[in-house]
Amino acid sequence: MSTGHPQLVAAIASEIAREGPIPFVRFMELALYHPQFGYYMRFPEAGVERIGWNGDFYTSSDVHPILGQAIARQAAQIDALLGYPDPFTVVEMGPGKGLLASHVLSGLQLAPQSLAHRLRYVLIECSPAMRAMQQRHLELWLEQPGCVSWVEDVGSLAQESVRGLMFSNELPDAFPVHRVQKKDHALWEVFVDVRDDGFVERLQGLSTRAIAEYLQRIHVELPEGYRTEVNLRAPGWMSQVANSLEQGVVITIDYGHAAEDLYGPERSRGTLLCYHSQMAGEDPYVRVGEQDITAHVDFTTLATVGEQSGLSVTGFTNQMSFLMGLGIEDMMAQLAPDSAEFRAAIHLLKPEGMGRTFKILVQHKALDRPALDGLTFRPFFGSALSRHVTA
Ligand SMILES: C[S@@+](CC[C@H](N)C(=O)[O-])C[C@H]1O[C@@H](n2cnc3c(N)ncnc32)[C@H](O)[C@@H]1O
Repeated sequence: MSTGHPQLVAAIASEIAREGPIPFVRFMELALYHPQFGYYMRFPEAGVERIGWNGDFYTSSDVHPILGQAIARQAAQIDALLGYPDPFTVVEMGPGKGLLASHVLSGLQLAPQSLAHRLRYVLIECSPAMRAMQQRHLELWLEQPGCVSWVEDVGSLAQESVRGLMFSNELPDAFPVHRVQKKDHALWEVFVDVRDDGFVERLQGLSTRAIAEYLQRIHVELPEGYRTEVNLRAPGWMSQVANSLEQGVVITIDYGHAAEDLYGPERSRGTLLCYHSQMAGEDPYVRVGEQDITAHVDFTTLATVGEQSGLSVTGFTNQMSFLMGLGIEDMMAQLAPDSAEFRAAIHLLKPEGMGRTFKILVQHKALDRPALDGLTFRPFFGSALSRHVTA
């Protein structure tokens, strides 16, 4: 029996009754982004939090402001490399509740060369409910006219309109994904149907040839029985990001891998996970609309698509190395080693946790390969993303 937000479950069931079984990607899109009832689109009931210690999952900015401070330091260096343009634009994509934005904005106040007066901070957020939450967290900045603004999707930024930094933390992992399975030497797609009041899976032929083409492009041949996800939204998003950047840097922070690892033998059940009340689960057909659904990101494809759209790979690193390059040790030196704040900062660095799970892809456009502090330490060698991408 599938459980979840009753009106959302009814809306999905009625689409299936009308159209027949729907590809998993459509189920996930409705579960997270149904315009009225989706997990991210609904205004949460009083007292309910999605992101944060009392929510379903927490992100780095709930742990400590140090990631935002590091991004601000990186942005200030990019500002200098660009020759202090006016405006210098920072675009944050998928800002969650706006906490990271408030940390980055605070950090940027400390930047030299009167960046505060030239700064334009644009948040890209598809959900009106999340936008309202971001506005609450950024009240202080809204008092400065023209400093902070919102756009619904990256495609609405004018072509080559951004000089500065475009970044995201945990965005492409939240895009709806296709789920596929190799069976009887053929590739099948997971569709979702209704039976006995519950959502059930059916394997059917691929809903689009783009899935097979995607796997061919990264030279992946799945073995018998292998089940995984294909994120067809991520490449389109990356090329839109590339098109809107005139000159500057793109930083994508997320959990994920190079394609070779993402589709390697140790992930034969895929990476789809659901989060509710800080617990990870594997069943997307329970708590529909009341739990987050995510899948790990294929950084090789982001890098390749970026290259095709004019973005060169500057480097590929992890959160621990990125923070170390941006002086986390100096920042932590100001904290008492037995303080909760110090322990929180360590949490972001842990090699067996957030420090290594989170990968960071850095790309640049219209700049000679910039030497960025966030890439001082390189835990991966040049070939990490693939033979076809230079890093
Ligand atoms: C997992 S949260 C991001 C967490 C946040 N960056 C942080 O550091 O706490 C994903 C966010 O991306 C938004 N989102 C999802 N798809 C989007 C899209 N295509 N365009 C803009 N925002 C999107 C969601 O509404 C949500 O605010």
